[in-house]
Amino acid sequence: MDRTSDVQALKQLLFAKFGIPPEKQRILRIDNIMSQKYGDIKISACVLDQDKKKLIADYQLVNGDKLYLEESRFHIIAPRFTQSIQGASALASERLNELEYSIQLRAKSPEHHHQHLHERKISEEKEEKEEEEEEEEEKSEEALWEIDPSEILIVKPKIGHGKTAIVHKGIWRLAEVAYKELTYARLTEQVMRAFREEVKTLSQLRHENVVMLVGACTDPKKLSIITEWVPRGALRDVLLNNHIKLNFNNVLKMAMDVACGMAYLHSRRIIHRDLKSHNLLVDESWTVKVADFGYAKPLSTDESTALTEVGTSGWVAPEVLDGDNGYNKSVDVFSYGVCLWEMITRGSSNPLCGLPALRYYREVEANNMPSIPAWCPAPFARLIQSCWAFRPEARPDFPAIIAGLRAIMQDKDPAAYDAIDVPCNFNPS
Ligand SMILES: Nc1ncnc2c1ncn2[C@@H]1O[C@H](COP(=O)(O)OP(=O)(O)OP(=O)(O)O)[C@@H](O)[C@H]1O
Ligand SMILES: [Mg+2]
Repeated sequence: MDRTSDVQALKQLLFAKFGIPPEKQRILRIDNIMSQKYGDIKISACVLDQDKKKLIADYQLVNGDKLYLEESRFHIIAPRFTQSIQGASALASERLNELEYSIQLRAKSPEHHHQHLHERKISEEKEEKEEEEEEEEEKSEEALWEIDPSEILIVKPKIGHGKTAIVHKGIWRLAEVAYKELTYARLTEQVMRAFREEVKTLSQLRHENVVMLVGACTDPKKLSIITEWVPRGALRDVLLNNHIKLNFNNVLKMAMDVACGMAYLHSRRIIHRDLKSHNLLVDESWTVKVADFGYAKPLSTDESTALTEVGTSGWVAPEVLDGDNGYNKSVDVFSYGVCLWEMITRGSSNPLCGLPALRYYREVEANNMPSIPAWCPAPFARLIQSCWAFRPEARPDFPAIIAGLRAIMQDKDPAAYDAIDVPCNFNPS
């Protein structure tokens, strides 16, 4: 891959797509990163802008945010990159030329090894400079998401707690945030490094149905994560509140929200591992957002915590308990099926909850899953059953689930679904 022509070609593409004159574009470097983590190549595109406020308002991006792309060849990357900028933007085209984009793709192309000596020297010098720039950039990136908890004004202490955290409502730089103090027994430097890596990735995610990570404190004594505040709290509490009326249309919308958030996370190669109605949050306009993914993984090692089991019994896919075989993103589809069941039963207690692991595994294997209320429209009941299938291969993926939900939505007049009440107090046994 020839770097110079790549930069020129990319500049031309940005010019053709957005009308940004090539001389106004600032492209620092192009590299590929061989991702150790996923065994494939990732390309990151770094967006820089002189006007921070505009960047945040128009793109919901923070200075230095990176867009990750997954193909290794340039002719695939460039259109994808421009699409993702377009997708992220609702900006009028005439204002786009006010932006500067810095594209950063790390690593070397094979052609590099065949350069003449003096060219190699030049490129080595260039690389050294790039590495320095990269280090500086990493430092400034860290500064972007590292938060000192003393800057958070706690307005409602201890509004909730779970397995590993105490949650407070706070204000940080004029924004309402959830401040989650994490409690882990032993944190080694290795664990902390993995945690920082994960936080860096998570802080770059943006989706309407995914709770935004604002930052984290990685000082082991004050270990915490800070996310956007989601005012109606956990979906579980909304479902259990019998002052809130829900109809089947509301359930379809919630199901769609979660499926869209999960499809996004899976497209970013993030497996949730603990999807349940406690970890789905509801905002003021009743949009459901997926929370609590990713950051717990590096912390949940035998060294750092007593919690060796991933997931929560009742929601966890059986293959997670069968330590020998490994598992993949379809574990989240299983848990999603249980979440759909919670939605239509308004948070009824799942009879499989709290069973010892082996017993739980056998019940799921024998398809002794919780019963579905008789009023539930048949296609939705079938969707739930397909999601919690014992065999991972039998479960749909999230794009297929989204298509299925869309078909159910279009199957009937919305008024017909509005008329179906979702009652409280369903008895599953
Ligand atoms: N971003 C947020 N906005 C508003 N409320 C939140 C937010 N994050 C968490 N909460 C509230 O805090 C409670 C506790 O959250 P936490 O994640 O610690 O525990 P959990 O989800 O109930 O259980 P688990 O530890 O198994 O995830 C949630 O149930 C929810 O009511
Ligand atoms: Mg949680």
